[in-house]
Amino acid sequence: MTSDSQKDEVLPRAGVIGWPVQHSRSPKMHGFWLAKYGLPGRYDKLPVPPEDLAAFLSALKTSMASEGFRGVNVTLPHKVAAMEYLDEITPLARRIGAVNTITVRADGTLLGDNTDIFGFLENIREAHPEWRASSGPAVLLGAGGGARAALVGLLDQGAPEIRLLNRTLEKAEALAEEFGDRVTPLAWDRAAEALEGAALLANTTSLGMMGQPPLDLELNALPQAAIVADIVYSPLETDLLRRAAQRGHRVVEGLDMLLHQGRPAFEAFFGLRPDVTPALREAVLAP
Ligand code: ATR
Repeated sequence: MTSDSQKDEVLPRAGVIGWPVQHSRSPKMHGFWLAKYGLPGRYDKLPVPPEDLAAFLSALKTSMASEGFRGVNVTLPHKVAAMEYLDEITPLARRIGAVNTITVRADGTLLGDNTDIFGFLENIREAHPEWRASSGPAVLLGAGGGARAALVGLLDQGAPEIRLLNRTLEKAEALAEEFGDRVTPLAWDRAAEALEGAALLANTTSLGMMGQPPLDLELNALPQAAIVADIVYSPLETDLLRRAAQRGHRVVEGLDMLLHQGRPAFEAFFGLRPDVTPALREAVLAP
């Protein structure tokens, strides 16, 4: 057997690294796409504790690459920590300050990218194609990793102003310092003021997630035309989205953000840009 034919037999592989990673829905999503497009390959949950991250990424370049590994998705708590072990990081991921997709390149080097921005923007666009980031001020709740991706996405798409509402004002102020004067940091008790005249309201905190405290935000000051988005997808319809829909707002669920961020990642691993469809949602939601 020649080495070439041996190479051909190696199944393309990818996976998601996290700690814990048991809850991840990514294997269901990538598994659905592999089957749908009839592609050979597999995508697994890869539990990696923080103390093993460096060794894991080093193995990804060598032994794992020879086993067919094309790359991995990165989830908590590795999105920031992984950056120091990569050979190159896309400018977008560097601005966000986090990677969620690592690909092994032909020469064995590792490239880090962030597809969360694509997920955030594409999710809103697909639900409401007429939406433009430039159409008015956006209100972001939170100042963590999710907020950074949303912030960079909205700024790049021409949002005139982003009002950053966070429990810890200092964190919102630090983001404003970093990203410039289109970002206005506000303490939580100034919510009513923040919502006035806004075109988009997006929650990037874990508030409202199953098992987390509720998101306590009075929506009265939000203009009727504003879109309301939530990155929380468990439950699918959060209390925020339910109350927004009751007030007549167009809403955007968090699950599709997860599905859309997976599209460029799947393409990087398996060579084809997949679609988000109702059947995919169903497969990902299945217990
Ligand atoms: P991620 O990277 O997933 O966004 P994170 O960096 O821990 O996670 O950020 C979580 C966000 O949710 C933060 O904005 C956090 O507010 P603080 O900066 O004040 O910590 C917000 N958050 C989490 N729990 C909260 C709570 N109980 N009340 C208000 N905000 C909360």
